[in-house]
Amino acid sequence: MILGGSTSKSLAQDLARVLGVEYVQALTKRFPDGEAYVRIEREALDKEVVLVQNTYPDANLVELLLLLDAARGLGADKITCVIPYFGYARQDRRFNPGEALSAKVMLRHLEMEMDRLLTIDLHKPDVLEWFARAPASDLKAAPAIGEFFSNHGIDLVLGPDKGATKRAEEVAAVIGCESDHLEKARLSGTEVRIAPSQIEAKGKTVLIVDDIISTGGTIVAATSELKRLGASKVFAACTHGLFTGGAVDRLKDVCDLVVSTNTLESDVSRVSVAKVVAKEI
Ligand code: R5P
Repeated sequence: MILGGSTSKSLAQDLARVLGVEYVQALTKRFPDGEAYVRIEREALDKEVVLVQNTYPDANLVELLLLLDAARGLGADKITCVIPYFGYARQDRRFNPGEALSAKVMLRHLEMEMDRLLTIDLHKPDVLEWFARAPASDLKAAPAIGEFFSNHGIDLVLGPDKGATKRAEEVAAVIGCESDHLEKARLSGTEVRIAPSQIEAKGKTVLIVDDIISTGGTIVAATSELKRLGASKVFAACTHGLFTGGAVDRLKDVCDLVVSTNTLESDVSRVSVAKVVAKEI
């Protein structure tokens, strides 16, 4: 039985379809004062339930905690939680004295309520060490992204920075093309600089793959560099499309195609990671 909250609904429904199990959509709403209300309109649930719900933005974290309790109340005694986009994962250390170690705080609190956790492309999967009480795995969207782009004539897959090299390799392996990475320096929350590159991009169709697109600054800078190098087409793909402040429009101005997975839903969330999650379950 797949239980869906108010986020990642299309992924949750897709997952139920791929697994051939029942989909139960929880009722979720807000009281006039903004507090969350959830109700699973069933007499009982299966003993084993898969709950799909993001922890981003903050309000959805509260909804997730309420859904876990509602499911327990209806007899679910093994709850696997799929958190497609795990909020706060990027604050995985105290970058400055006095900061909170946000990723650890979230994982430590959530581990008290779940019997198993599945996440997708965490910024750094090592953070799952803080989820110690039950099994937890981070799954990769690369096979799904590679499959989506396998008939798009891609010559080269690039990570926008060194940290994204492995992801680019995995996507390229599915497509059957080369991969490489660019060199990125972050100047501020919205500004990045991509170092001039020696990559052979002239006349090529290039796919840039990242884990997250937030402001779009990284992809815009990487695309400009690739166009400067003579790339004929530049496509951009990410797992988690946060697309803050009109990023999709800014990206569409420079990229030939922008696509994300359905961990976060938007107009461009065209790649489903349901098969990846179903395989793990
Ligand atoms: C950072 O290391 C991440 O992998 C992404 O590159 C980053 O979050 C993208 O942010 P933006 O779209 O704001 O450049």
